[in-house]
Parts: sequence; structure tokens; C-alpha cells
Amino acid sequence: MEKMKKGSLFITTPIYYVNDKPHIGHAYTTVAADILARWHKQKGDEVFFLTGTDEHGAKVAESAKLANKSPQQLCDKNSKLFKEAFDNLNLSYDYFIRTTDQRHEKSVAKFMQKLYDQGDIYEGTYEGLYCTGCENFLTEKELVDGKCPDHLKEPEKISEKNYFFKLTKYLSKVQTLIEKDEIKILPEDKKKEALGLFKQGLEDFSVSRENVKWGIPLPFDKSQVTYVWVEALQNYISAIGYGDDRREFEKWWQNPLHIMAKDILKFHCIYWPALLLAAGEEPPKQMFLHGFFSINGQKMSKSIGNVIDPNDLVAKYGADATRYLLISQFPFGQDGDIKEENFKSQYNSELAHEIGNLVSRSTNLLEKNNDGIVPEVDGSLDFADIGISVASGENKLSDWLESIWKNYDSDMEKFKFDHVTFSIGHNLVSISNQIIEKLKLWELHKTDKKKWDKAMYNVLEFIYHMSWMIRPIMPETSDKIFKNIGIPKEGIKTLNGEVMKWGGLEPGIIVTKGKPLFPRI
Ligand code: ME8
Ligand code: MG
Repeated sequence: MEKMKKGSLFITTPIYYVNDKPHIGHAYTTVAADILARWHKQKGDEVFFLTGTDEHGAKVAESAKLANKSPQQLCDKNSKLFKEAFDNLNLSYDYFIRTTDQRHEKSVAKFMQKLYDQGDIYEGTYEGLYCTGCENFLTEKELVDGKCPDHLKEPEKISEKNYFFKLTKYLSKVQTLIEKDEIKILPEDKKKEALGLFKQGLEDFSVSRENVKWGIPLPFDKSQVTYVWVEALQNYISAIGYGDDRREFEKWWQNPLHIMAKDILKFHCIYWPALLLAAGEEPPKQMFLHGFFSINGQKMSKSIGNVIDPNDLVAKYGADATRYLLISQFPFGQDGDIKEENFKSQYNSELAHEIGNLVSRSTNLLEKNNDGIVPEVDGSLDFADIGISVASGENKLSDWLESIWKNYDSDMEKFKFDHVTFSIGHNLVSISNQIIEKLKLWELHKTDKKKWDKAMYNVLEFIYHMSWMIRPIMPETSDKIFKNIGIPKEGIKTLNGEVMKWGGLEPGIIVTKGKPLFPRI
């Protein structure tokens, strides 16, 4: 039988403004995207994971002025900070795009020229409000007490010659595509929100700025720069060769998944598909819009002074734990609150105490009582052997393991990262600890070596599977655990149906007790 072709998946995050250094909001989205990318790569799917920085526009230019730098200097400095923060978090992006890259600029010019040539861009005058913080044109309706509700600043009144995009020509098509899930918007409430926008009425929008200098000039009128949002969206296609490599572009554009927070829904769910349709390209297949979090119940903001630097978290907890803590706070997709003081107790209980202790405790038991050699056994324990039962009703621990894997797979597929972290602690770790406790594995070998062998194998086998399950979230910890249980890097396989079955651990291999995975803080 012919082997089924692996899917190519193109995973993106927003590109982040470089007016300032990165904060945990940026880290949050990018960690989530990284987990998905790693999970798919682990399964053998072909993945292109893109992130990067959004560098043009008035907001960046103004920040540069305040910092006494040229815009390019500020971009270089801050873009580097994003890259460093993402590397500190061990994010496995395949490409880091900067919108000041020449390749992007050329691709944007090509796209804009096409739309202009076919008459989808026309000249007009924009008279109205603009919030530089949002880099967005606002209407009176959107203001609260005359101010932008997000930036608490009065927007600027502008009147300038602009080029407009014929959004209205494509609206009903975009709406239908969203309704039919051909542009799949997740979670469901965000799809509703996107569909709601059509009812409010949407108008043609500006694709250029006359009074902004820091940007990509329009190819057909060099006195104007491309509106920063219009070029920023195009990063998703310029990064994969829209401007210069049709084959590469077609390969990845078959199956894109845009991940972002809900703050930029309108741009991604309405404007972006319309622009693509106008250019004669496929609209994006899938978008996932997660929630916004607050810090200790307050909006995260510079003026409140509660902005968390992801590098500080990594310095304190390490990359793996930071990744774990970030995505386990509340369901991905919902709004939530982050309390930094909870991180420490959660680190100590779930990582140091549960996962870390289990690994050191069991490798220690094997080293002390069996020279570290994994025993040969005939299958798994029954729940009856340890005097417990599970709600899902399986008798054998090996059958139960398969159902845990099924849930894992479907949780990952549905972006339920908090379920994944919860399940690791409450299933594999908890049952392993119960095996050790109920059967008293520190003394059972003296009276019933055969049963001890079986129980010990069972615990180690669960650790092996746990190491697979945590791998996309905590890749370094997974490497360490695999090393402890005698599986070198070269021996780590593709995560397929075979690996998800009982019996991954080879009898006879030597297990070693490594350093504590998560030293207590
Ligand atoms: O909007 N909670 O860039 P940006 C959760 N350059 N996520 C948060 C967050 C919070 N409190 N704060 C920020 C832009 N984020 C544009 C995007 S894309 C073509 C152009 C994350 O620097 C979240 O992913 O303002 C959000 O969508 C993004 O940062 C906005 O980043
Ligand atoms: Mg923003």
C-alpha cells in the first residue's frame, strides 16, 4: 500500500511591534504556536513555523524619535530583543521575519501593484480619527470619553490623501467562507464575533498613509507608504515566497494556521481574506484567536507597571517551566488572569514535586534494587493489583494508557493545552505514585521480586510515555528524561501509533538517576 503523504502545515504568530521590548503577551502566543509546531513535527508532519517583528509605521517611528534613534536603529535593537527572548524560551521557529527585510518589501510592492492594476485600489481622501497606539483608523462610536479605550489617548484627527481598497466588493464572499468554515475561525465565539462585524457595516479602508514616512512606498505612488497593517498581514506570504518563489509559496499556503489574540480579529478575519481574494489567492484556511490575559486582575500596561518580561521568568524558572506555566494558567482561547506569585507554588508542586520527584524516585529505586536494569515482564499491571479503579473503566493499565493517549491527541488537536498539562499530573504521575505507594516498591523486591519487576517496569513505562507527552511543551526536560531511561537523542522516534502503545521501554537497558529535573525554588 502506498504510504499516505504527510500534511504540510504552516503555523504563524502575529508579527510583533518593535516600539518596545517583548512582554509575556508575545511570549504566550509564540509558546502556544511552538507547542503545536513541535507536536506536529514530532508526529512527522512537515511544518513551517513563522514568527517575527512588525517594524514600520508611525508608532515605531515615534518611539524611535523619543529614544533618539533612527527608526531602523530602534527596529534593529528591539527586533534582536524579540529574537533573544524567543531563543531563551527555546522557540523552534523556522523563520523569523522582519518587515524591513528586502524580501518582504519586494513582495509587498508586487501585491500592491497587482491590486492597483486591476482596479481594486483607488484614490480618495481619509478624514477621520487615527490612533497611533493601535495603528488603526477609529470611528467616534469606538471611543470611550473621547479616547481610544485601549490606549486611553485621544486619537489624532487626520485628513489626508489615501488610497483605498475595495473591501466592499469582497465582503459577501468572505462572509460566506467564514460561515461555511472554509475560513475556519476558532474558537466558536470568535467566529461569531467575526460574523457580527458584517452586520455593523464595513467600508473600504485605507491602504496607504500620506503623512507617515517610515514604511514601504507604494509602487505606483512613491509619495505614500503602505499602511502598516496592510503590509504586516502580507508577512505571512512574503515569508514563504509570494514575491519570488511560487513553488515554495504554493506548498505552504495550502494549509496555513494563523494564531493570535482576539485584539487583531478584524484585520485577520475580514481584511486579510479580502485582500487575498482580490489578489487571486486562497484565503487563510484556519485561524485560532486566543484570549487576552490580565495581570493580577488588571490590564497589563506600562503605566500600571505590571508588564512581565519573559526573560525574567526564564531566569527564575528555566525555559521549560516557563512554557509550562504560561500555557497551563487558563484555557487557551479564553480570557484569563495571570498571578505571578502562583507561578512559584505551581512550579514547586506540579513540576518539582510531581514530575521531578516521580522521575528521581523511580530511577533511584531501580538503581538501588536492580542495578538500574529495566526488568523483562509480561505486560502491564491490572488496576486490581494496586487496589484502585479508574473512571474510564479499564482493567489493565496498558489499555488505560491507550485511552490517555487518545485524549492527548484530541486535546492537542483542539488547542486544549491546559487539559494536556492537567492530565499529565492527574493521570500518569498520579497513578505511577500510587503504584509505588500501594505496592511499597521500596521493599516489595524482598518478598515478591516478580511483582516488583512488573510494577517497576510499569512505572518506568509511564515515565517514558509522560516524556513523550510533555515533549512539545518541555522539550529539554523530555530529552533529560529520555536520557535517564536509556534512550539517547538518536533513539527518539517519530511519535506515531506504535509509540503510543504499551511497551516502548526496552528490557535490559540501563537507567540512570540524573540530576533533579526541577530543583525546588
Ligand atoms: O498587533 N494577552 O502587534 P502587537 C494575550 N503588529 N496575548 C497578548 C497580550 C495579552 N495581554 N498582549 C499581547 C500587533 N498579546 C501587530 C500584529 S500581525 C500581521 C500584526 C499578543 O505587538 C497577542 O498575540 O500589539 C496579540 O495578538 C499580539 O500580542 C499583539 O502584538
Ligand atoms: Mg497591540
